[in-house]
Order: sequence, then structure tokens, then C-alpha cells
Amino acid sequence: MQKIINKLKKKKIPLDIYIDYCLYKFKESYYEKKKIFGPKGDFITSPYISSIFGEMIAVFVANYFIRKGINKFSIIEIGAGEGLMSKDIIKTLNKFKEIKFTYSILEKSKNLKETQKKKLEEFQVNWLNSLGTKKNKNVFILSNELLDSLPVKHLKKINNKWFEKYVFYNITEKKIKTKYYKTKKINNKIFNLITKNIKFIEYSPLALNLLNKISNLIKKNKNNCFLTFDYGYTDSNFKNTLQGIKRHSKFSIFEDPGNVDITYLINFHLIKNIFNNNRLFNNIIMSQSKFLINNGILERLKRANKLCSSEIEKRTLIKSVNRLIDVKQMGKLFKVFFVQNDI
Ligand SMILES: C[S@@+](CC[C@H](N)C(=O)[O-])C[C@H]1O[C@@H](n2cnc3c(N)ncnc32)[C@H](O)[C@@H]1O
Repeated sequence: MQKIINKLKKKKIPLDIYIDYCLYKFKESYYEKKKIFGPKGDFITSPYISSIFGEMIAVFVANYFIRKGINKFSIIEIGAGEGLMSKDIIKTLNKFKEIKFTYSILEKSKNLKETQKKKLEEFQVNWLNSLGTKKNKNVFILSNELLDSLPVKHLKKINNKWFEKYVFYNITEKKIKTKYYKTKKINNKIFNLITKNIKFIEYSPLALNLLNKISNLIKKNKNNCFLTFDYGYTDSNFKNTLQGIKRHSKFSIFEDPGNVDITYLINFHLIKNIFNNNRLFNNIIMSQSKFLINNGILERLKRANKLCSSEIEKRTLIKSVNRLIDVKQMGKLFKVFFVQNDI
């Protein structure tokens, strides 16, 4: 996108600002484009693999409240993409006649908000502008692959001093390049959450902010909670995992800005620390495979199999469920983080 190159020609910008320009800031930015999801787009997420994924989440949400004797609750999904998972969740929850729920979406992309409105027009869905909703009681916040799409910073410690990665345009080489510069201002928030010996940090200030807002909302009522799915790792050391994806393959994040998805692996140890720091200690991290199996995906598969009209349909169904739970596919790299207020 020429607009980004022109900006970079004028001055260097921090990595997270560059990513925000590429993904969200302008109408030519990546998430404002059509057809980025699914087999014909650049990447695929779990709801595109099988509707059983959303069904499992719906069952988890319903059980969470039913076990507490609650039959009226609110769901807030953050970053709903094309609304595919929202649809599967709402359709499944509608089958539980004894429960009443509201479904709200907080979505950053204008383009995706429009798509969601079209896809979900048969259901009663509200779109929020912020997390500060009037309803603070019995709120279930959820997201799938939200955190990995939030812009990150790269920080490096050299001789006991912190340096931050900036992006600029090299006019002679006609290329976008990066360089570390000494940080002017230390952001205490992140340094309070990491161990002292760490020498490299890949983190998203926006995610930190959003997760703190989620924490505050959870704290408002003992039944509030947050469930999120994403790919990532659990050790305390940070890795440099930033990558571009174009048509299902890796691609440089500095070539063709605005037409490439930019993503990274979540450091779930950091996510846990954010909630622990806010005194929400009742939180767990588990593999996607364990979560789905614990919630009955294999029994659901057996029932769905009986309804298949052909062998090909059966095989496709088994293959897609397998993709979600197989440890060599999405089962292990993808993790589930669940935090609740109730002790
Ligand atoms: C990788 S997509 C995942 C979409 C969908 N959940 C799925 O699984 O297919 C990330 C989504 O998060 C949205 N998003 C990014 N930053 C956001 C923010 N700060 N608040 C709300 N939505 C955001 C994007 O526009 C997009 O809809």
C-alpha cells in the first residue's frame, strides 16, 4: 500500500504502529478487505473447519451457567471475523429451551462488522462500541484468534538498556527495513509482568489494554468469565514469532503491506500473569484438543456421522474434527485460556 510507504518515507515508526497501519488503520488495510478468510482467502480458522467447533463452545457456555443454576446470561464475542462462529453458537444455544441469552459483538473492522450484520441478520445480535456495557452480570466473554491479530512490539535488552524495533523506508534500497532504537520511555505495565532476566519481549500493548478491560468486567460479578482460543506457547521466555501469511503460506510482513495478514504466537504465560496481576487467579490454560475432547467432541462426531448421507461426507467430517484435535495439527499448538471470577 503506497500510503504506508509514503508514511515510512517521512519518518520511522514503532513496529506495532506499522502493523496497525497494515491491518486496520486505513480503508486499504488488510482487515478492511473482502475474502481474507476460508480456503479461497489467506488463512483458515477453526469455525471454517467445522461448525462443531462453535457447537462445542455453545455447550461449554450453557453448561457453565446451568451448573450455577443461571438461565439468563449475556455473551460478548470480541473479534468475530465473518460471524461464522457466532452463528454456530447462537444456533446451538437456541436449542436449549430453558435458557435466555443476549449475544453482542465487539468488532474493530468496519468491513467485517458489515459482513457480520449480513450473516447474522436472522438473529438478534447487538454490536458494541466498547466493553463498558450496561449489563455487567452473568457475562461470558469469548474470542477465537483475536489476540494473535493485535499489533505487537519487539523490545530487546542490550547492556542493561532496552531497545525497541522501528520500521522505516530505505530510499536507496527501495525497501522497508527495521532497526532497534533505545527506548525513550519505559512502559512499566509490561515490565511488571515479566521476569528480570528476560532479554527479548514480543508483546501487544493493545492486548494488554484489552485484557485489563476484560479483567475489570469479569471482576464486576462472580459469574463473569472469559474464554479465548489461540495459537501459542506457555513458557515465560518470549520468542520472536511474528510472521506474515498470504494465501495459506508464509510471506514477509514488509513486502506488499496491507495485503498480507500479520500474526504471532501468543505467550500464554504473559496472559496468565495479566489476570493473576488483577487478582483473577482462577484461570487455566489447556490444549484445544483437551478442551474439545473434554466437552464431548468425539460423542458429537459419532452422532453427526450417523446423519451423513454418504461415505465421502463421513470422511470429510472425521477429517475436519481430526484437524481440530490432532496434536500434529491444531490440537496442541492451539490453546484455550479460561478465566473466571468465582473461586
Ligand atoms: C484472525 S481474525 C479471527 C476472526 C474470527 N474470530 C474467526 O475465528 O474466524 C481477528 C478478528 O479480530 C478483530 N479485531 C482485531 N482487533 C480487534 C479489537 N481491538 N477489538 C475488536 N475486534 C478486533 C478483527 O477485525 C477480526 O475480526
